[in-house]
Amino acid sequence: HPGGAHPATLILGIGELTTNAPEVVGVDPADDPTGLVRDAALLLDGGRVAWVGTESACADGVEQALGRAPDRVVAVEGRAVLPGFVDSHTHLVFDGDRTAEFEARMAGRPYAAGGIRTTVAATRAASDDALRANLRKHVDEALAQGTTTLEVKSGYGLSVADEERAVRLAAEVTDEVTFLGAHVVPPECADDPDAYVDLVVGDMLAACAPHARWIDVFCETGAFTPEQSRRVLEAGAAAGLGVRVHANQLGPGEGVRLAVDLGAAAVDHCTYLSDDDVAALAGSWSSGGASGGSSGPAAHGTVATLLPGVEFSTRQPYPDARRLLDAGAVVALASDCNPGSSYTSSMPLMVALAVREMGMTVPEAVWAATAGGARALRRDDVGHLAPGARADAVVLDAPSRTHLAYRPGVPLVHAVWQGGRQV
Ligand code: NIG
Ligand code: FE
Repeated sequence: HPGGAHPATLILGIGELTTNAPEVVGVDPADDPTGLVRDAALLLDGGRVAWVGTESACADGVEQALGRAPDRVVAVEGRAVLPGFVDSHTHLVFDGDRTAEFEARMAGRPYAAGGIRTTVAATRAASDDALRANLRKHVDEALAQGTTTLEVKSGYGLSVADEERAVRLAAEVTDEVTFLGAHVVPPECADDPDAYVDLVVGDMLAACAPHARWIDVFCETGAFTPEQSRRVLEAGAAAGLGVRVHANQLGPGEGVRLAVDLGAAAVDHCTYLSDDDVAALAGSWSSGGASGGSSGPAAHGTVATLLPGVEFSTRQPYPDARRLLDAGAVVALASDCNPGSSYTSSMPLMVALAVREMGMTVPEAVWAATAGGARALRRDDVGHLAPGARADAVVLDAPSRTHLAYRPGVPLVHAVWQGGRQV
């Protein structure tokens, strides 16, 4: 095993381990549902978590789980460890930047969806290799900040060939690829948006679906109407894709209720919500909701994914996470990393913003940035550190996860494990 693909690694001396798995840990029920273990150890083997518990129990635990000494022992000297971040919303297939637009915005011009077309022009003009290099650069940037699972959307191509290229390149870096041909109507179709929707649900979907897991649409004034959005999402679902939606970012609208109605895995932004929207999101997790069925992991509802990097970068009011949580909705945090509305890949920053600006506690925000993202992607192998989970973990250069919000802007990621390997 030493030097092999997945050396068995025992991480010792963990001051505070967030497992998001209270059922297998049960050490500190007060921290439920984040399954916090103090003075913990974590055994990684074969790319998976093999054992987790208190350090005092780890000799027996390792013997039972591994039956031999680990290949590698890493002492983290009281640092905090948490699951790798799950960033369920990014737009990383693009070229160019929008520095000038950002400067104009900071001088008082409001954000509008039309800026997307600037990036469409730059992306169409770029070579495959340029797009690939930019994509990898951003994926590596995210990984260095603890993001071990990343969703990537298309949406800056907006032609059959350019969207097919975007999802194909995205599939080189992640399994979580989203086809967002319906991001905005491209300039050449401005006179006939419905003809563009015909293209999206026709040839474009046919070309992109083989590379994608998800379909998405920007349901917003200035992008697509609820009727057009429903067409896109239903066509994607019929082609075998899971449903996710951009909605209620710039103003109130029907997008959130459409998403719940269609059983979407997530609806993202959720900045302007009515009481009915909040009730629909919360209700999607109880039996009898649109996604229906019995309780347990099969009863999937619609996650409200909040993207506070957008409000930070556009000087808009933040979404009200407290209201959603108090109503019983499931909340995720994601970066929305893109060159227009949120050009940051930092999940630690999302946690800090959610805690300081959106009414979340630290345990809630860390859960939302890990387990919440996993739910938004309908994944049960990431976002937690129960035995069997993918061995994705972040070691903070801090004694507790609280420092993510307490010390904003400070690079606190000390080490990252992805699939059992230190990156
Ligand atoms: O999620 N809301 C729509 N799309 C992106 C913005 C992309 C851009 O401005 O380039 C978003 O914020
Ligand atoms: Fe987005």
